[in-house]
Amino acid sequence: MTEPALDALLHEGRRFDPPVELAENANAQPEIYEHAAKDRLGFWAEQARELTWDTEWTDVLEWNAPFAKWFLGGKLNASVNAVDRHVAAGNGDKVAFHWISDGDTERRDVTYADLKREVCKAANALTSLGVGAGDRVTIYMPMIPETVVTILACARIGAPHNVVFCGFSSDSLSGRINDSDSKLVVTTDGQYRRGEPAPVKPAVDEALKSTPGIEKVLVVRRTGTDVEWDEGRDVWWHDVVEPASDDHTPEPFDAEHPLFMMYTSGTTAKPKGILHTTGGYLTQAAFTHRMVFDLKPDTDVYWCAADIGWITGHSYIVYGPLVNGATSVMYEGTPHPADKDRWWKIIQDLKVSILYTAPTTIRTLMKWGAEVLEPYDLSSLRILGSVGEPINPEAWIWYRENVGGGRTPVVDTWWQTETGAIMITPLPGITATKPGAAMTPLPGISADVVDNSGKSVGESGGGLLVLTESWPSMLRGIWGDDERYQETYWSRFDGVYFAGDGAKKDDDGDIWLLGRVDDVMNVSGHRISTTEVEHALVSHPSVAEAAVVGATDPTTGQAIVAFVTPRGSVAEDESAGEEFVQGLRDHVAKQIGPIAKPRQVLVTPELPKTRSGKIMRRLLRDIAENRELGDVTTLLDPTVTEAIRDRMAGSDTKED
Ligand code: PRX
Repeated sequence: MTEPALDALLHEGRRFDPPVELAENANAQPEIYEHAAKDRLGFWAEQARELTWDTEWTDVLEWNAPFAKWFLGGKLNASVNAVDRHVAAGNGDKVAFHWISDGDTERRDVTYADLKREVCKAANALTSLGVGAGDRVTIYMPMIPETVVTILACARIGAPHNVVFCGFSSDSLSGRINDSDSKLVVTTDGQYRRGEPAPVKPAVDEALKSTPGIEKVLVVRRTGTDVEWDEGRDVWWHDVVEPASDDHTPEPFDAEHPLFMMYTSGTTAKPKGILHTTGGYLTQAAFTHRMVFDLKPDTDVYWCAADIGWITGHSYIVYGPLVNGATSVMYEGTPHPADKDRWWKIIQDLKVSILYTAPTTIRTLMKWGAEVLEPYDLSSLRILGSVGEPINPEAWIWYRENVGGGRTPVVDTWWQTETGAIMITPLPGITATKPGAAMTPLPGISADVVDNSGKSVGESGGGLLVLTESWPSMLRGIWGDDERYQETYWSRFDGVYFAGDGAKKDDDGDIWLLGRVDDVMNVSGHRISTTEVEHALVSHPSVAEAAVVGATDPTTGQAIVAFVTPRGSVAEDESAGEEFVQGLRDHVAKQIGPIAKPRQVLVTPELPKTRSGKIMRRLLRDIAENRELGDVTTLLDPTVTEAIRDRMAGSDTKED
């Protein structure tokens, strides 16, 4: 972001007070901040008591920096908290999910009683397939009710789940299966995307060529397309889950029992398996869902439009809402140009009252124009949420005005895969919001903005975001790599968690997030490592060297721009052709997944390097964003940047 733009943002004068009625009836009242500050651990113990425990804990927190244990000695079962307790309380007939298929060709209401029955069957089936407590299960599935059932069945039997977003390639999938050392994969034959069936199982079949640990593959029939079948390994869901008993006695697990791992990109080529455990994670997922969205479980219809393949789906489609007994919408599709008004139809039909989505989606909807929304009655909406990347004030205002009818609070929620749940956000009944600011840490959460030496910048200062006290849903480590855990998050500053984000405090001390400060890009709210894309590019036989940067993009937030030097064996007219570039983009999609496909690939005979041989990424970013070049005095050969810039000017930008 340029300095003047940042300045304008930080002197943003607009304030939006909470609606009076919402404030009066809000779950969180202003004294909650002071209450939590007085006794942080007591406050979190109160929140934990909202869950159903088999055995109460003896101590709230054991902190051996940087290793935390929350609710020591406590025992509980996550699926009992998400499902059984609501059925036991007489709410079995309540809808847990209004499921809507891609393109809305099919709708299914799943009640809490349905969910309990299906989860019990799936738990029995998983046990019969040899999965026990502690065994890892990889889930590679689209947005269908069986995905939630599988997640909860794993939780019920204490088998940590490892959900891999269905858009990842077979290579990415096999890497995650092997790193987590999973025993079983659950998948589907296919999925629906933009009205068309698309294959899913073939990616699993391909991945499994290099995953010796996998014993069984459980397959849900979704599209009915023909799939290859390995008789000794593959099992249909309808053959083992449907006939299984719906009677299952859940076992309580330790509060620190691993609940799941979720792989996310870091600054190296290898994704990190972020580990979350049971008691603390559920406590904070449920607490934040209740307070940040002011959830009234008897009247609200809540819709988090994320994918379960990401942390947002875990905490705010599955665990938070279910533990709170909410009624949610679960939509299989994504917004696309041929189906522009789908969301508004769904909101009108189901009287959705809370909507949680990402800025990139809001910007796409903005591009399509407010007139698409006009025919629809969106008056049921009362709270709007945003997550995944910084939200620009224009998008924030558009969201509030056009989707929220100028009435609804917009909560911009900052958090990460690692934090497990929301950390910095306005509270809708308390905070006077500012367009584009995540505002303040939640009660019970301690965050700060520090300079390079770790000193707090105070008001009106910029620096790095840190979290200064352990929180219940914090990651417990990187799967199998304690050293990397310490190195990545805890080595930059002593005893505090380094988030990897730049942030500023404004004159009131409110926090504005400014994007990543490391080699992680944020493309449409998806975290992608520059190194990972570079590795994918250099694995192509025609590429000698590659450098990747994230460039600002008006819709996706950031876009991937790659600079590539071909091998000497590649003829100049070949590498200058469109086909060569397209081949490289497709290669990255195949290696990592379509979400990592560079927007632009620029072929150049040389990359700009310092005299010590380091690629000057800052310069490449300047070129990619068409900025004046900064200091080039350390550059080995200054003519290189000019040559790249000339090529950039003549290159095409791809948006597929
Ligand atoms: O850079 C921040 C950005 O997304 C990163 C975390 O990505 P991930 O682990 O994939 O989780 C995304 C969903 C929680 C952060 O380091 N980010 C997330 N929310 C915001 C944000 N940046 C600015 N404002 C936000 N509200």
